[in-house]
Amino acid sequence: MRRRVLQSQTIAKVCEIKQLQKDVFSLKVETELKHKEQSIPKAGQFYMLKSRPSRVLLTRPISVYKVRLLDARGKELASHADCLQETFPAVQDAHVLELEFLILQKGEGTEDLCNLQVGLSIDLIGPLGNHFFKPSESLSGAKNSKAFAEREAAKEANTENQLPPSVAIVGGGIGIAPVSGFAQGLEKESYDFYASFKSGTYGIENVQAKNLYITTDDGSVGVHGMLPAVLTADTLKEKKYTLLYACGPLPMLAYLQKICLEAGVQAWLSMEEKMGCGVGACLGCTIKTTEGNRQCCKAGPIFQGDKLIF
Ligand SMILES: Cc1cc2nc3c(=O)[nH]c(=O)nc-3n(C[C@H](O)[C@H](O)[C@H](O)COP(=O)(O)OP(=O)(O)OC[C@H]3O[C@@H](n4cnc5c(N)ncnc54)[C@H](O)[C@@H]3O)c2cc1C
Ligand code: FES
Repeated sequence: MRRRVLQSQTIAKVCEIKQLQKDVFSLKVETELKHKEQSIPKAGQFYMLKSRPSRVLLTRPISVYKVRLLDARGKELASHADCLQETFPAVQDAHVLELEFLILQKGEGTEDLCNLQVGLSIDLIGPLGNHFFKPSESLSGAKNSKAFAEREAAKEANTENQLPPSVAIVGGGIGIAPVSGFAQGLEKESYDFYASFKSGTYGIENVQAKNLYITTDDGSVGVHGMLPAVLTADTLKEKKYTLLYACGPLPMLAYLQKICLEAGVQAWLSMEEKMGCGVGACLGCTIKTTEGNRQCCKAGPIFQGDKLIF
């Protein structure tokens, strides 16, 4: 089945809901694949979600954490990693799209989603927004970066193979969902992963990083402190990273932009902007970039780091 860019509004059924922390839940839903062209989400994309019934009027943007394709009997036809590839050779009989989200209870919209029970339904619009490109594609797209220049020079010197992209992936808090989902589609141990939480961890169990660095504000797991305790401009240089992908709170993304610029590392940052419609209709998610104002839901949520104005 070929992937098509097609957004759809549908109703999905809750098949599993798990409490991971006091205010963090994993929500798994299933929706019928009505036609072969129905779009399979890529890592970094999001859906607009609302529980049925809900106290809120508008759907809420939530990133895809994991995706699977199942047949009519619930047998897996394509794993999460398979689904992140461009084509899916063995999914002719795919009947069900299974989506997993990680949700942090914030206000009424997310609270209603976290209070759902198995068998209940949600409204689902998506997949929406752009997605993370794999390292080889990301670097070739970043023509003005130092990493790109070095790669081009190596190509001329015929030593390109000595310079595979060196990748750091960073997730902060609930921003772990899209980057962890992305990492799980990459080759095992082809990247380092940095995860920062307030307390404890979630969403990183299946991350197969070469090096996994964890920080917690309360010191319950990993290094006591915030991201700068394990990742600075000097770390980026020492580890010779060429590419960084991240999602997390705004101050963390602003910090990453700064250290990546200092170290000459290409960054792709996923922004969490307040959204009304998620489809480019309300202008509620406008953000500033060096190329002018952009709608986060349409042009993003993932932007080249050096183009963002914080
Ligand atoms: C692209 C994208 C992906 C996201 N992925 C996730 C995810 O995987 N898991 C998760 O728990 N949260 C995610 N968020 C944040 C989540 O959308 C908000 O926490 C949620 O909308 C808050 O709604 P609420 O009704 O619970 O809270 P309220 O504060 O009552 O929300 C009021 C309004 O503000 C908007 N809003 C409030 N905070 C945010 C925010 N941080 N980002 C965007 N809109 C906000 C809501 O959509 C709503 O319209 C994502 C946001 C974006 C933009
Ligand atoms: S959320 Fe409405 S335009 Fe982006």
